Amino acid sequence: MDDYFLPSHKPVLLKEVLHFLNLKQGDVIFEGTLGGAGHTIEIIKAIAPTGKLIGVDLDSQALSTATRVLKNYSDNVTLIKDNFANVGGILKRLGISFIDGFFLDLGLSLDQIERSGRGFSYIRDEKLDMRFDPEASKRAYTVVNEYPEEKLREIFYKYGEERWASRVARNIVEYRRFKKIESTGELVEIVKKSIPYSERYKRGHPAKRVFQAIRIEVNEELENLEKALEEGFRVLRSGGRMVVISYHSLEDRIVKQKFSTFSGKCICPPGLPVCACGAEKKAEIITKKVVTPSMEELQENPNSKSAKLRAIEKV
Ligand SMILES: C[S@@+](CC[C@H](N)C(=O)[O-])C[C@H]1O[C@@H](n2cnc3c(N)ncnc32)[C@H](O)[C@@H]1O
Repeated sequence: MDDYFLPSHKPVLLKEVLHFLNLKQGDVIFEGTLGGAGHTIEIIKAIAPTGKLIGVDLDSQALSTATRVLKNYSDNVTLIKDNFANVGGILKRLGISFIDGFFLDLGLSLDQIERSGRGFSYIRDEKLDMRFDPEASKRAYTVVNEYPEEKLREIFYKYGEERWASRVARNIVEYRRFKKIESTGELVEIVKKSIPYSERYKRGHPAKRVFQAIRIEVNEELENLEKALEEGFRVLRSGGRMVVISYHSLEDRIVKQKFSTFSGKCICPPGLPVCACGAEKKAEIITKKVVTPSMEELQENPNSKSAKLRAIEKV
């Protein structure tokens, strides 16, 4: 497969990312989601010639595209195939104790959806895969063909907020009694048949939520995000910024809650006479309101529609 990350991809909320990272020449920045290096190149321009960016992605195609896009800045970048949840270990191996900025642009890129052939899209008929890292062991095929009905139901409900989770899970297990589910096309048909016709197209494509749920499960997206925020915050220098773009409510909820905890918000049940949760102010939230794409960006890049950016500064 040729490189499917195209440098022509439009980075989402680019101006805002650069603004909230508050970049200075010489900064050390960790970026956990290189993709087509759309944000990366602009970050590097702002920290060069003395700054350093550590860029990570699970998809080796992202690293080869980034290597090409960033060829004139090779002294300023270190590119690593790894999980952003391992930010602590990655920096330790590089001998870096603290960073000035931490950036994540979550989820997957349009390039991966449209050209990776890994079954991320419910519109194409491809193999059930959905791994960001093609070498990882858990694939969508494993989830769909091997998980028990109860676990499937829970995933569709929790990670897809799918109202018809029970029916979809039951129909998948029923189908499996006769034949393995090999392709995204087969899965889409099962999902469609599980949703009553009058409800089928009410919330976008009928398979959208089930696909999101399976992708989250395959790539352990929510666990990785929680770990990355904890670890990333630990290695952030005082005055350093953490900026995260999320694309669905489950991710955004985690970012919002973590940032709120870092900012010292008490999470004790109401009515306690004194705080017992140990809340301590370790950061300032600098996006008092969540930041979303401008009308202009939405017109230029409709795919940015669901993006939400939040940022904090470590005190
Ligand atoms: C939305 S894209 C990034 C696009 C990039 N900002 C750009 O403008 O070109 C997200 C990228 O994060 C990667 N990714 C997702 N989860 C990851 C994880 N846990 N660790 C490392 N990379 C991850 C995906 O493979 C994908 O390339």
